Order: sequence, then structure tokens, then C-alpha cells
Amino acid sequence: MRDPNPKAVLLRDYTPPAFLIDSVDLDVDVREKQATIRSRLAVRRNPAAKDAAQPLVLDGRHLELVSVAIDGRALAPGEYTVDEDHLRIAEAPAAFTLEAVVRFDPWANTRLEGFYASKDGLFTQCEAQGFRCITYFIDRPDVMSRYTVTLHAGRERFPHLLANGNQVAKGEEDGERHWAKWEDPFPKPSYLFAMVAAKLDLLEEGFVTRSGRKALLQVYVEPGKIDQAGFAMHALKKAMRWDEAVFGLELDLERFMIVAVGDFNMGAMENKGLNIFNTKYILARPDTATDYDYYGIDKVVAHEYFHNWTGNRVTCRDWFQLTLKEGLTVFRDQEYSADEYSRAVARIQDVRDLRAYQFPEDAGPMAHPVRPDSYVEINNFYTATVYEKGAEVIRMIYTLLGREPFRKGMDLYFERHDGQAVTCDDFTQAMQDASGVDLSGLRRWYSRAGTPRVTARGVYDEAAQAFTLTVGQSLGQGGEPLHIPLAVGLVGPDGVDIPLRLEGDAAASGTTRVLDLREAEQQFRFVEVTARPVPSLLRGFSAPVVLDGGLTDADLTHLMTHDSDPFNRWEAGQVLATRIILAGVEALKAGKPMEVPTAYVEAVGRILASASRDPAFAAECLALPDEAILAEQMEVADPDAIHEARRRLKREIAERYRTRFEGAFRHFTVTGPYSPDANAAGRRSLRNASLGYLMAIDDSTARALTFLEYRRAENMTDTMAALECLANSAGAERERALGMFYEKWKDEALVVDKWFRAQATSDLPKTLDRVKSLLAHPAFDLRNPNRARAVLHAFAGTAVHFHAADGEGYRFVAEQVVALDRINPQIASRLARAFDRWKKYDAGRQAHARGALESIRSAEGLSSDVGEVVGRALG
Ligand code: TRP
Ligand code: ZN
Repeated sequence: MRDPNPKAVLLRDYTPPAFLIDSVDLDVDVREKQATIRSRLAVRRNPAAKDAAQPLVLDGRHLELVSVAIDGRALAPGEYTVDEDHLRIAEAPAAFTLEAVVRFDPWANTRLEGFYASKDGLFTQCEAQGFRCITYFIDRPDVMSRYTVTLHAGRERFPHLLANGNQVAKGEEDGERHWAKWEDPFPKPSYLFAMVAAKLDLLEEGFVTRSGRKALLQVYVEPGKIDQAGFAMHALKKAMRWDEAVFGLELDLERFMIVAVGDFNMGAMENKGLNIFNTKYILARPDTATDYDYYGIDKVVAHEYFHNWTGNRVTCRDWFQLTLKEGLTVFRDQEYSADEYSRAVARIQDVRDLRAYQFPEDAGPMAHPVRPDSYVEINNFYTATVYEKGAEVIRMIYTLLGREPFRKGMDLYFERHDGQAVTCDDFTQAMQDASGVDLSGLRRWYSRAGTPRVTARGVYDEAAQAFTLTVGQSLGQGGEPLHIPLAVGLVGPDGVDIPLRLEGDAAASGTTRVLDLREAEQQFRFVEVTARPVPSLLRGFSAPVVLDGGLTDADLTHLMTHDSDPFNRWEAGQVLATRIILAGVEALKAGKPMEVPTAYVEAVGRILASASRDPAFAAECLALPDEAILAEQMEVADPDAIHEARRRLKREIAERYRTRFEGAFRHFTVTGPYSPDANAAGRRSLRNASLGYLMAIDDSTARALTFLEYRRAENMTDTMAALECLANSAGAERERALGMFYEKWKDEALVVDKWFRAQATSDLPKTLDRVKSLLAHPAFDLRNPNRARAVLHAFAGTAVHFHAADGEGYRFVAEQVVALDRINPQIASRLARAFDRWKKYDAGRQAHARGALESIRSAEGLSSDVGEVVGRALG
């Protein structure tokens, strides 16, 4: 039996591996319901190891060991021990060849980690610790090896046999079988290993790198879906050009492969030369994928490609350093998206996600620094903190250094560490050495959990023509203050930026300035300020903090209309809307009417009036803050009151501007063939935001318009916008549209996911009953992560129904966590995270949530994945 209470792994316990493995030679034989893996490892003692007499300990899970030999001599039973997690050999020479034969059934692997079956064949997922489910190995990223792989399988069922690197030989064998041999010229950690044996269709194109090297690009998809692979190929080429132009980084391979698979735990995986993707981030056709899907494909294809340098050429020493590759690669994909689409809109979306997922994580039981100090199950640490907050930390370094010095820092990082497994400190050191900028205060961000609060108060001295800003920071856990880059501007009464001159500066320099907040409290005095300004603080969201800017509603309305920084124009509107909704919550609770200030409504009118200047940006400004973000602002969250107050605000705006929304809906129609570019997508997004407002009125006119739109729509963006509106409406159009949609799309899995999700996230009262009946739908399958997420994770993310006061939402999700845990612990553990914020609710809800959490904890055979999440939530 495996330990039911596994111990935490600690960063401070890191020691170099006792052995190194220079080369790996795998022979993989695929038969009916069985894979046999023969490995030959070139092992030697690590000269850097602490103790030269340590036993050889190999990781291995879910494996049946057939035989093990050292230098060609089979080991006798007394010479090794095997348990659930390890193969131990007490006496090992200084250097030797280890051969092992293992067996297992990939078709029985529902965890989707290691080597597993999906509809069209067999696939691998090794990050973080899946390689140990394929063969015995020292499965940690600081053990880097050269891999050779030979795959054997039936020709008919598995026409494509792929692995990392280059195909060096292939042939036929008896029984209608064939084989292929692959060699990866680059040493790599085991988590980047990949192989595929499958029946797939192939799209391939050539690419010439900037320095003139030729490469073959391949995208493999489910048979019959080649017409949905083109955009991913296009995105790959764009990303390759971008990395050449912006970072001077070229593809280092002759062949770069992407394989799409319908059963996948995460978004995608950057295996060297053989990326494996969730179909969700590859397949797209105008009638099957929304603009947002296209955007996601572009971003994720780029993300995985960018890992080839940030992650693969330079990798992580240990899993505590995960943000070294993830934070940096997310920063790179964010910059890519900002360059390819609208920078302002991309930033707004990234910050909205950060606030909706990372801020709550950092305030809850799973809070951890971007470089965690400990973990029980590493799969639980692929988090918004490590990824998105990690990217914010890189962005702060970028802001502090500036573009050119940052690029020099990247160049130095590769010069020093190419081919190595390194730490976050190695990265910041390269940045500091290349730029001369002191990063000591910035580095503290790596070891602190929680979202810092920044408070700013401005005082204008008319006589002295000076504006003094007093800024403070707190994280509520002691320790030295952080270095926080605070980008500020001063907006004059005429709405124009005032040139910034700090006392002591020779002259004014620009209208946005990055203040270095390094102390717990600091003052900044601006001179030559000719009129009382409104400070525009944290422009572009220059640091991942919660800001209390001390501004009045009138100040915010001024910024909402005039700020030259688009992010802060958007932000001022969000802060105002939040104030109105939270005041509405209090009013509703006191049985009083909710007030909506005219100044705010008029500012919304100005957004509508000037929407054609940047429709995508206008759509962002029209979107009210998410319920999850609003809940975070309350001492005790009241999901029903938040939902109601938000709904009323939306309806009031809709009623006030009904004709304008109808006008925008007609005016921003996109003609001509579909394209997911920023311009066309921006028009659709404003048009569909307008439809959303009209449906907030939900009368027969609005419903008829929406149903007509549903039937007229020729692309999935418009179709889904209409369907989602109807799914939230009690009218008869709802069931008609849902029925038509399913009939039309029942054979297209990713579209069926949308159908499930629209119902699972509906605002309508009986949503939980509907969700329960969806579980019995023939197309529902708990084993498919995309389908489980479309129903269960989607439902658990709803504010009103998951947090229903009677506890039914909690009980339902708890049962599903337990059911899912028996199939796929990683997916179950993600679902369990829905309970993270349970202590933010009232006593009645807390009692129900505690009961639900305890019922999960007492389930038999609980995985360490779910165990850690639930244990932390209750602990
Ligand atoms: N490295 C992957 C990425 O960021 C993440 C990933 C894909 C992953 N599959 C996984 C992490 C499975 C853990 C488990 O692109
Ligand atoms: Zn990544």
C-alpha cells in the first residue's frame, strides 16, 4: 500500500541526484491491451552527489517489473526491492548499464499520465512525474539524458509511430506490424519525453528559419479533421517568426511536430520537438470555434513553442522552480498576444483572469509563493500563482529594466545556462548582471505568498504647485518590503496628462513614470503641477497588487473618460461599477432601492458613443466585474445579493440605452468571409456585448431578436453569444435553440462541450437539476476531461448555484470529486479547488461546505492530489 498521508517535499531539502543517466534507449512494444517497455540506461554516480555510497533508487508507478539486469547480468531477487513507488538496488557500481523490462496496459490508464489510450491511439503525458509510469527512472528534471526510442505496433491501427527528435530508421515486421526508431539529439529531462502510436491525419508545411535552416512543421489531428488544423499551423509559423524577431530565438530542430488528442489533462505540453495538445487548443473552423477559441489556440501554440527555449533548452533544477519556465513563458505568450492583437485588450483580459483566479488562490488555503516552499503533490502546483503571478513577476522585471536591458538579460541567461537545469535565482541574477539594476527587493516576490495592498494618497498644494503622493505597502506577514514598480500619471482637470517632474529632477520627463516603491511607506513629490490633478495610479497594472487609491467617484469618472492609459480608463469603470454593485448589495439587504448614479450611466453612454474608435476595448469597458471578483471584495460574500445587484445594474444600463444597443448590434455587423483577426473579432465582441445588454431586459422583443440571431449566425462566435443568452432566459426559445444546436453538432466533441457548458453555467433556478440530468446524457463521459470540465468544473465555477444556501451545490460537487478521483486524480483535484473560498461565506453555507469537504476526506482510497487540496481547505 502507498502511504495514505504522504509527506511534503521541501525546497530546502534539495540535494543533487546520487546518480546521473547519460543515455536512455527504449524499446516499446504495443500489443492488444499491453505495452512492454525495455529500457537500457547508461548510469553513473554523480560526482556532485553528497555521498558516494548511496543506493540506486529509481521511481516507478503502476508498472509490472518483468526483469532487471546490470551490465547484462540479471539481478537475483535479493539484489533489489520493489514497492509501489520505487525500485531500489543497494549495491550499484560507479558506472554501468541498467536494463529493465516492464509491462502495463495503456487502455486501463484513466489517469492520462504516462502512456495512455485515447480514441485514435496511444499518447504520453510525462510532466511532471509521468515518465515513471512508463519505465523505472530517476524521474526529476535535473537528470538529463539523450533518448533513443524504437516503437513497434500494428500497422493498420497505428500507422504513425512518433517520438522526440528525428526518425532514423523504420521497417516492417511479422503480423502486419511495423516499427520506427527515433533519436533526440538534445539531452533532456524525462518530463519532456513523448511518444505517440496512432491513426491520425497530417498537415505539413516547410519553414525556413531566419538564419536559413530548413524545418518540417507537422500538425497531426484526428482522421477527417484536417480542415480544422490550418489555424494552428498558421499560429505556429507566426510564433516562430515572433520569437526570432523579438528574442532572436530560432527553432533548433529539423522537424517540429504537434499532435492533438481529445483526452488530455491540461491545455498542452511542450515535449521536445513533439508537442502534444488538447484538441481544444488546435482544432478550429469558423463554424465550430469562437473568436475566443481562436485566440486561445494562437496563444497556447505560441506558449508551447516558446517553451522550446524557455523550459527545454534551459530547464528547471527541481519542481519548486516551475515558474522559471512557466512564468517566463506566460510572459512571452502575453507579449506575443499583445503584439498580434490589441495590447490594451490583452492586458485587460490578463488582469481580469489574474483577479478572478490568482487573487482568490492567494487569499485561500492553497496560497503559495510563485516559488513554493513545499508540496505534497506537484500536480497541484500548476497554478494561477506559478503561471500568471509568475508572469507578473517577470513583467515587473521587464518594467524595471526596460526593453533593451531585458533582452540583454535574456541573452545572458541563455549564454550562461543553455543545456542546464537551473533556478529562479539564476534567472534574476542574469537579469541583474546584464542590466546593472538592483533586483534584491524584486526577488522577494519569489518567496512571499499573498497579494500585497498598496495605499496611495495625494495632496495638492496649490501655492507651491506641488502634488505629493504618499504610498504604502503591506502584505501582513512581516519581512522586508517588496520592490513594487508603480507606474503613475497625473491627469489635469482638462483631461490632459501633466508632464511629470519629480522634485530634484532636472526637467519634466514624459507623462507616465515608474515610481520605485521599495519601502513600507514612501513619498513622491511632483513639482510644476499647475492645477489639481487626478492621479492615475498603477497604469497598465504595473504590479500584481490590490490598490487603494483613495479616489472619489468624481475622480474615477474623470479617469474613466479621459485617462490616456487605456488600462486605467477601463479600471476606473470597473472600480465605479464595483462600488455601485456593493452599495446595491447593502441596499438590497436593507430592503432599500438600489441607486445607480447618473454620472456613471453617462460615462457608460460616452463609451457607447465613441465605441467605433476601438470596438474591442469598448466591449471590455461595457463588461461588468465578474461575480467571483465582486465576492472577493466583501467581508462575507453574499452570492445571491451580488448576483441580483449586478443584474439590476446591467438591466438599468440596458433600459437607459436600449436604442443605442440595438443600433450597435446592427452597426457592428461584420461582412465578408470569417476571420478571427483583432479587428473583426473586436466588432463581434461589441456587437455581442450589446446583445447581452438587450437580453438583460429579457422581454419578448429581445428574445425574438436573439433567437433570430441564433438562426442567422454563420460563425460559432455569434452562435454561442446568442445561445448563451438564451440559456439564461426562461423563454420558450431556450429549449428550441439548445435542441437545434445539439442535433447539428452532436458529432463534433468540442462543440458538444459548449452545449454542455452553456447549460451548466446557466443563471436559471433549476440549473443543478439540469446538471444532474446532463450526467445521464448519452454524450456525457466522466473519463473525458474536456467533457467533465464542461459540466462539473463549469458548474462549480458558478457563483449562485454552487454556493446555493441549502448546500445542494456543495454536496453534488463533493460526490463528483470522489467519483472523478477514482478515474483521474488530477482532474478531481482541480474540481475540489472549487471549495477554496468556503470560509468567505456565511455560517450556514460554511457548515454545508465543511460537511461536503469532510465527506470527500473520508472517501476510501483518496488520491494524494485531492487529499492535499481538501486537507488544506479543512486545516
Ligand atoms: N507544461 C505544460 C504547459 O504549461 C503544462 C502541462 C501540460 C501539465 N500537461 C500537464 C502539467 C500535465 C502537469 C500535468 O504548457
Ligand atoms: Zn507552460
